[in-house]
Amino acid sequence: MDLEKLRHQALEDLKTIKDPAPLEIWRIKYLGRKSELSRFLRSLADLSLEERRALGPKANGLRQELEELYDKKAVLLKAKSYQLKAFDITRPGRKISRGHLHPLTLVENEVKEIFRNLNFSIVEGPELETEYYNFDALNIPQDHPARDMWDTLYVKNQKSKIKNQNEGGLLMRTHTSPVQIRYMEKHQPPFQIIVPGRVFRHEATDASHEVNFHQFEGLMVGKDVSLANFKFVVMEFFKKFFKKPIEFRIRPSYFPFTEPSVEVDVRFGQLSNVSAQGGSASGGKGQWLEIMGAGMVHPKVFEAVKYPSTGSGRVQGFAFGAGIERLAMIKYKIPDIRLFYSSDLRFIRQF
Ligand code: FA5
Repeated sequence: MDLEKLRHQALEDLKTIKDPAPLEIWRIKYLGRKSELSRFLRSLADLSLEERRALGPKANGLRQELEELYDKKAVLLKAKSYQLKAFDITRPGRKISRGHLHPLTLVENEVKEIFRNLNFSIVEGPELETEYYNFDALNIPQDHPARDMWDTLYVKNQKSKIKNQNEGGLLMRTHTSPVQIRYMEKHQPPFQIIVPGRVFRHEATDASHEVNFHQFEGLMVGKDVSLANFKFVVMEFFKKFFKKPIEFRIRPSYFPFTEPSVEVDVRFGQLSNVSAQGGSASGGKGQWLEIMGAGMVHPKVFEAVKYPSTGSGRVQGFAFGAGIERLAMIKYKIPDIRLFYSSDLRFIRQF
């Protein structure tokens, strides 16, 4: 048998093949069980040792070569068929949409950054709280009418899970103020901290009230910390956060854990429907939106964390609690707080 001739013919045939079907016919013809080459290989056994030594390696080498050529061609044709059938290489690629942060996360990150630059530390506390931290230690004993200021979501039948039974029942924290107590129990002044976090209230929703929203608490305690320091910090914060002059006012208020107490409002565009504190809904200059409660830390609060109330170790400080959604509403001119939780992508994609 003329192996060289067979090889030549096989290679020539292979060159003309452009589709998988003829390639299969080629494989059967040159490598199939009944092919000339296979039959020849089987017949080697009948040859003399000398002939076998001379022809065996050549025939096997040819088979291997043809097999490799077949494999390569098969891969090539497969790729080509994909290209022709499934891909139009001129078609523009499909755009991959990039994820991005929620506006509330953006605002929280910005708040943290601004206060970090003012030398405040970022601290966190639990969302599931005890009555002691959320109320009692903040000078709001049980049966005190001030508890009505926060419509509370209590957690049923969990008393056994509380380590210290004196801490009362469990509830979803109504503000970030309990973290003031948790922090002061473990740290000595002077310090200044910011506590961002989620809070919960059992109240009716409207354009400026949600059941679940975010606050950040501020607490600065030292020897001579005053309300004037608070005013400076708030003004610095507004300057950096809004990046343009805004109108704000500080007015007297009441919180059981501060004395004196104040509230801070910011003029909120010219948007209607927002039931903000004070101001008329349709005034030309917009209306006031309450942003934060604040004041000088009440002596009863320092008493609860065992800070000295007299003598040279006596300290004082200011605290505040601000609404993150409210800040985002003013910054991005969002007329309704409920949009943040609406899952409406048309809203979310604007940020
Ligand atoms: C408090 O929660 C106090 N803990 C704040 C405080 C801290 C006072 C430290 C003094 C010292 P208030 O309930 O007013 O206060 O809430 C504070 C801020 O949270 C409000 O000014 C407002 O910006 C925001 N806020 C309150 N209720 C809601 C609500 N339902 N939806 C959205 N934001 C709210």
